Amino acid sequence: MVDYPTDFAIPQPSGTFGAYCAGGHRDVEGWLEPSILTAITGFIAFQRAAGLPATFAEIGVHHGRFYLGLALAMGASSRGVAIDVFEAQHLNPDGSGKGNRQAFVSNMARLNVAADRQTIIAHDSRLVSPQQVISALGGQHVSIFSVDGAHTVEYTISDLELAAATIAECGIIIVDDLFNARWPGVIDGVLQWLRSKAGTFEMVVYGDNKGFIARSAVASAYRQMLVSGPARRFGAFHPVVFAGRPSLFARFADPRAAFPLGSDAEGAPEGRVDFCKGGAGAPLLGEGWAMPEKGGVWSIRREAKVALPTSYVARAATPLTITLQAFVPDGETQRLTVSAGGRSVFSEGVKTGVHTIMLGREELKRAGAQGAERIELTFGVERLFIPSAFSLGSDNRELGIRLVCCDA
Ligand SMILES: C[S@@+](CC[C@H](N)C(=O)[O-])C[C@H]1O[C@@H](n2cnc3c(N)ncnc32)[C@H](O)[C@@H]1O
Repeated sequence: MVDYPTDFAIPQPSGTFGAYCAGGHRDVEGWLEPSILTAITGFIAFQRAAGLPATFAEIGVHHGRFYLGLALAMGASSRGVAIDVFEAQHLNPDGSGKGNRQAFVSNMARLNVAADRQTIIAHDSRLVSPQQVISALGGQHVSIFSVDGAHTVEYTISDLELAAATIAECGIIIVDDLFNARWPGVIDGVLQWLRSKAGTFEMVVYGDNKGFIARSAVASAYRQMLVSGPARRFGAFHPVVFAGRPSLFARFADPRAAFPLGSDAEGAPEGRVDFCKGGAGAPLLGEGWAMPEKGGVWSIRREAKVALPTSYVARAATPLTITLQAFVPDGETQRLTVSAGGRSVFSEGVKTGVHTIMLGREELKRAGAQGAERIELTFGVERLFIPSAFSLGSDNRELGIRLVCCDA
């Protein structure tokens, strides 16, 4: 018998997971609302407090966008099972996605997810047995099982059966495309399956294109965590009835809103925020950046955004100082602009090299919306350049600036 936890801490996403939440997931081809990363952070914390193992599985991995999010959220000690037909697309009955084993493996390596803790099962999901999944996890059950393979009624029901046969007592099954009009087989299969399991499994919560199913015995403890427990800031939750059982419709919060900088006392930065890999600035990065690296983070769009907490900007007694590296061919200049909340706060021609730019604190505060928790800075360049095209290494990405750090 498990004691369901009610009072436990949910850690701030940090390191590579923090960067993944802040936009790094977009570097992995696939489908995922970032707010789902907020949701799984809460579910995983609940499961850790209940003593569940750090184990997960997914049917339908594609290039790994959600799978790798689960791996990073669960941490280095986790173990996972990745099931996909990959290149054998003749076994994909309805053309939902197109797995690519090579892309999945290279994304795993790029994000430092340990390959020897993952088991890849390259089979039609209907041929995978519960024993195969459990023995791949060293005899442990699955704490989070994501169902996102073929989207027909028959596969949805069969994949839910595999998930139900392998999850731990407080495990969660996450079903993708629950209400996606393009894939009616999913909702049809889920409703048929849940009605056949009445009293055993139910929909805990759904929203942002995914449904979260658990055993009925634990479902209300999960809902309590969301509505009035440690995850209550994770979104807006509305009570509904789903397949005859109480459930919640959710709009989960983007991870950058759910985990504002400074909300975690231990992780709160002092004056300097670094935008390098593992730096405190990674969760603040919005659209337009690559994954943070050792020396900072490169913009890969002509506009790239950072959301600074208003409290962090206001804390400064002197102008905010941003250190960045511009990348322009030798001898050329290009205009670098910074706007805050849509208003221009900096505009200058820059040559290649490191620059320190100053942004007036009062001007930034004026640019922020009244009462807003964050001020969005947009860094703009006129053109992006590819280092390898100028014989500067083998980097084939189109790059703008490298953001290094911010001092307040
Ligand atoms: C919608 S994609 C999955 C998206 C992925 N979860 C993500 O995070 O982006 C569906 C995946 O299911 C795989 N698939 C299709 N039919 C399958 C089957 N019969 N057994 C296992 N995998 C299957 C496809 O190859 C594809 O990679």
